[in-house]
Amino acid sequence: MITSVPSLMSDISGVGRDRARGGYSRFVLTPAELELREWFGGEAARRSLDVEVDRNGVLWAWHSAGSSTGAVVTGSHLDSVPGGGAFDGPLGIATAFCAYDRLLNEGALGDRPFAIAAFPEEEGARFGVACLGSRLMTGAIDPDRARGLTDADGVSYAEALAGAGIDPRHIGPDPDRLKSLSAFVELHVEQGRGLIDLGQPVAVGDAILGHGRWRITVRGQGNHAGTTLMDDRRDPMVAAAAIVVAVRDLARQQPDARATVGRIQPVPGGTNVIASRVEVWLDVRHPSDEVTASLVARIAASASSLAASEGCTASVTEESLSPTVHFDASLRSSLCAALPGAPVLGTGAGHDAGVLGSHVPTGMLFVRNPTGISHAPEEHVEDDDADAGADALARCLAPLLRV
Ligand code: GLV
Ligand code: MN
Ligand code: MN
Ligand code: MN
Repeated sequence: MITSVPSLMSDISGVGRDRARGGYSRFVLTPAELELREWFGGEAARRSLDVEVDRNGVLWAWHSAGSSTGAVVTGSHLDSVPGGGAFDGPLGIATAFCAYDRLLNEGALGDRPFAIAAFPEEEGARFGVACLGSRLMTGAIDPDRARGLTDADGVSYAEALAGAGIDPRHIGPDPDRLKSLSAFVELHVEQGRGLIDLGQPVAVGDAILGHGRWRITVRGQGNHAGTTLMDDRRDPMVAAAAIVVAVRDLARQQPDARATVGRIQPVPGGTNVIASRVEVWLDVRHPSDEVTASLVARIAASASSLAASEGCTASVTEESLSPTVHFDASLRSSLCAALPGAPVLGTGAGHDAGVLGSHVPTGMLFVRNPTGISHAPEEHVEDDDADAGADALARCLAPLLRV
């Protein structure tokens, strides 16, 4: 059985469509993502792969072999940002199943165990911390902190896990599992224009830009929109608006920096209510962690003074920080050797591969996105390129399975 990637992608094209925002909203452990996890189980079962849900809620589809160590793993994630595209995450899972079909057909599955993995909450769209599953597995986040993270409705990660039948008491570092893996290769839709400009369908990943998230809490005085005179207000929304502009201006002064406020939450959030508090979520990326730290410090200082001029306060909390990652050089050479002529590209987007990379030899493949747009409904992959991605993945995995 050789399945085509477009046919697998079309099987899930109706799951988690977001009518209000456009695109897809497949938040971790909500009905849409759970439906994709079911689909993953069904695709595994059709191939007689053994499905495992590990202590951190990571899904694995195992082709077991003679040996129990040195497993070669490929995969990605099933969750999405709000109103995201169809490919960010699921393309890496669909191509993984299709690459498996090719490897099986060619008799290329050797003695090493092989698995397809799907990591929960890669986007951090529901609980705020990106790559939550891989961070837990590698010990990059304290399990108590992860259990206590809450979504917009106040549901904790512990409650969400329990609701999906995953015991939240058991989440946390999994060194034995990490030791049992010999390589992790994540295929992902490209989230920029690199491959369009090069006129190529597939690239080998090189590095992930360092990035982090901070929450700026701006506090003022909640009050009535009609009875509070303009001069009597301490309105944190006004301060937040100035802070958003300052983020853009400060980032522009720092070469190679990217800083974004893509989410802002006034509390309580009523048209006729002056907010009492505003949560401003900040995403900052730069190749140097020192530069990121100094840019965030300048943003924090500016936020405090802008808040003070509105009679408000601003405090900054770090939510997560991921240093720049350079993928394993020898694995990258192996991927390049399997794909002669494929370009080597870095990315400004975060991935579970970046988190796993400090524990397991890790690499990535990127597939051309003809719009160059991602984290938006316009993200796209042509059918031929999707299948070229599965072919490339199979070609990259085959030698890893032979060693
Ligand atoms: C995830 O895709 C990120 O880069 O934020
Ligand atoms: Mn993403
Ligand atoms: Mn992704
Ligand atoms: Mn990502």
